[in-house]
Amino acid sequence: MTTILRRLPPSEATGLRTGARHSLAELYRPRDLVVLGLGVMIGAGIFSIAGQQAATTAGPGVLLSFMIAGIASLLACLCYAELSSTMPTSGSAYTFTYVIFGEVWAWVIGWALILELQLAAAVVARAWGGLTVTAISNFGIKLPGEALVEDLLVFGILVLLTGIVALGARVGLRALWIMVSAKLLAIGAVIVVGLPHIDVANFGDFLVPPKTLPSSPATVLEVFVGESQAFGWFGIFAAASAIAFAYIGFDVVATSAEETVNAPRAVPRGMIRSLVIATVIYLAVALVMVGMVSFTKISVDTPLSSAFRVIGVDWMVHVIDAGAVLGLTTVILVLIVGQTRVLFSIARDGLIPRGLASVSRRYHTPTRVTLLIGFVAIMLAEFVPVLMLQELVVIGALFAFAFVAAGVIVMRRRMPYLERGFQVPLSPLLPALSLVATLWLMVNLRVMTWAWFALWMAFGLLVYLLYGRRHSLLARPRPRSNLDPARGRHRR
Ligand code: ALA
Repeated sequence: MTTILRRLPPSEATGLRTGARHSLAELYRPRDLVVLGLGVMIGAGIFSIAGQQAATTAGPGVLLSFMIAGIASLLACLCYAELSSTMPTSGSAYTFTYVIFGEVWAWVIGWALILELQLAAAVVARAWGGLTVTAISNFGIKLPGEALVEDLLVFGILVLLTGIVALGARVGLRALWIMVSAKLLAIGAVIVVGLPHIDVANFGDFLVPPKTLPSSPATVLEVFVGESQAFGWFGIFAAASAIAFAYIGFDVVATSAEETVNAPRAVPRGMIRSLVIATVIYLAVALVMVGMVSFTKISVDTPLSSAFRVIGVDWMVHVIDAGAVLGLTTVILVLIVGQTRVLFSIARDGLIPRGLASVSRRYHTPTRVTLLIGFVAIMLAEFVPVLMLQELVVIGALFAFAFVAAGVIVMRRRMPYLERGFQVPLSPLLPALSLVATLWLMVNLRVMTWAWFALWMAFGLLVYLLYGRRHSLLARPRPRSNLDPARGRHRR
């Protein structure tokens, strides 16, 4: 039984630049990481979920929800920054946990990350399909069989983006720079055009009086309290947990560490900078949205566009459409990249078949694993009602945040000698606060989300017991430095 708690030696995670495990080419410069972060963060969260939450759950208080989720994310980001500056590997939270807490916990985190990233790619692809169809019809083009067109579009975008990732990060990076710049322009237009239309009357009492709902309690917190409420403080906190979806992505930047020049310094900076910029953008967009019109007039399907329509600035609808279509494209692209890096790392350690860790000699990317991820994303987006599962993405991410926060505290005590390119200030206070904030967001998620998550994790543990435990490289007598990850085999 003790074997499941065996730990990866820190030297395996820190000595990547010279070690034989390092097999992905260095590619990202510090500013690329900011683009990567903005590319993956700014998407469905701000274009759709913010307005939905304002209309149904938080009212103008959605601004507070954004602040709460933003503070929790910033605390988590500082913890990620410290650990990835010490262990700059593509496994991110999975590898940190392997070194700090041991194999079975690492697997559990890896399994949660797989859920987060794989499902997020499918959710955002579905949302992208809906937005693209709306964008086309906003131009007055009548599509025959909208549902079928949407399915085909979702299929097309996932095939295209998987292809781009499989062909090599360089192709993807160039496309990313262009698309992220375009989406930032669109968001800039939302803010600049919307600001003069803000009417303080729309903020009303800010805290919309709570409304007790006839439905049975949905979130874990509501079950404790015994009733279900929208608006009021309950609404604001519940919305903050849903809105955490918008911040998902800074953690994905950590998966690029192995391919980043001067990672111990560049990764923390890139991660923190992109998160701060995204937070400012979110607050500005949310302020404009709930300031321009009463939250009761915001449509759940196309929130931002509906707000501009109400104030009579109809042409902005096309700007928002363009920004959203491009914005969500980059989110899917970077999510696929992040997911390939996590799976690649797990495969490299032998917890899933090692063949998946092979790197294409031609394109220098883990091609096999990329194709697998693309295939699963297509299946999920086409055949599962993924838009209803977005909270599962959030719980997967928050679960990893909790381990990373605890990991900072434990690693400071247990491995104080490791070199850290970045240190969380006021440790252990801030990591402890990060843990509390993360747990608070988690109890504001629905009981159903917890149930699905528990099921997924139980299935994961079974997979580990049946496969990973025995195939783990740590279960083999050979020294790990004899590995050639490029081939996924031992060197002779
Ligand atoms: N943060 C990303 C989005 O909002 C996942 O789409």
